[in-house]
Amino acid sequence: MKVLVIGAGNMGLTYAQGMSKSKLLKKRNIMILDTSEEKIKELNEISHFDVYKDLKDCVPFADIVFIAVKPYHSEELFKAIAPLVNKEQIIISIMAGITIDYMKDLTGLDKVVRAMPNLPAQIGRGLTSYIASEAVSKVELILVENLLDTTGKSILVSNENFIDASTGISGSGPAYVFYFMQSMMEAALQMGFSKNISKVLVSETFTGAVELFNQADHSPNKWMDMVASKGGTTRAALDSMEDNNVNELIKEAAFAAFNRAVELGK
Ligand SMILES: NC(=O)c1ccc[n+]([C@@H]2O[C@H](COP(=O)([O-])OP(=O)(O)OC[C@H]3O[C@@H](n4cnc5c(N)ncnc54)[C@H](OP(=O)(O)O)[C@@H]3O)[C@@H](O)[C@H]2O)c1
Repeated sequence: MKVLVIGAGNMGLTYAQGMSKSKLLKKRNIMILDTSEEKIKELNEISHFDVYKDLKDCVPFADIVFIAVKPYHSEELFKAIAPLVNKEQIIISIMAGITIDYMKDLTGLDKVVRAMPNLPAQIGRGLTSYIASEAVSKVELILVENLLDTTGKSILVSNENFIDASTGISGSGPAYVFYFMQSMMEAALQMGFSKNISKVLVSETFTGAVELFNQADHSPNKWMDMVASKGGTTRAALDSMEDNNVNELIKEAAFAAFNRAVELGK
């Protein structure tokens, strides 16, 4: 089986490397294509992939075409690959907002997968939600899932709306966590800690809290109750967040990403 990755940016390269580290594919069965001369030069230096700059030299030979360009490049790309594809090929797209129907219309292909990964894929801790068109068989779906799982975990969703929704939660979510971390680091600095100590304080707090959360079946609310005692320090912080409506604001932010994903798909 041959996989072609189109777009060797952050995500495309992450998946190409994930697939190449797994035992699913031989390194020489991963092709990668980018339009940027600079990228092509870098890729040739890494040298464990077959690198291309012309679609006609690689698209017809791929069983799976994995698309990782920015959404605004999709129309031009799909029109260019349409004359080169055959009905047996599967397209996997990780582009935000680009719908299955749109991909089918522009490429003429029936087997299309839409996936939404997130940044921790870069360290094998990603979360990818995905959905496939009806023409993708059960066996092919397992293969797709195995490819996506080379960068972490994947979740098959029941309708495409959940891809846009997961963009608002897991896709864009790492940035919300960084936002929270930034605020806490700024507070630590203002309290007089050095940059290095602020970083350790914040990062260990996040890591520890997430590990604790994963070890028991408690809701975040229950954990908060366990940490915060009446009249104590944590309760003062949580009350301040409640007074400032932080909970609603975070939900609003997640919906802003969800709505933007829907908008991109129009
Ligand atoms: N980054 C994330 O956390 C994340 C999360 C979920 C989903 N995604 C999705 O992943 C996709 C890729 O994001 P990214 O951050 O990896 O983007 P990126 O770093 O900009 O990478 C895209 C690469 O594709 C190249 N390219 C552009 N047009 C092309 C074409 N027609 N054929 C081949 N290569 C082409 C770009 O070259 P130039 O730089 O020269 O244009 C660039 O090297 C996006 O659609 C995004 O929605 C990203």
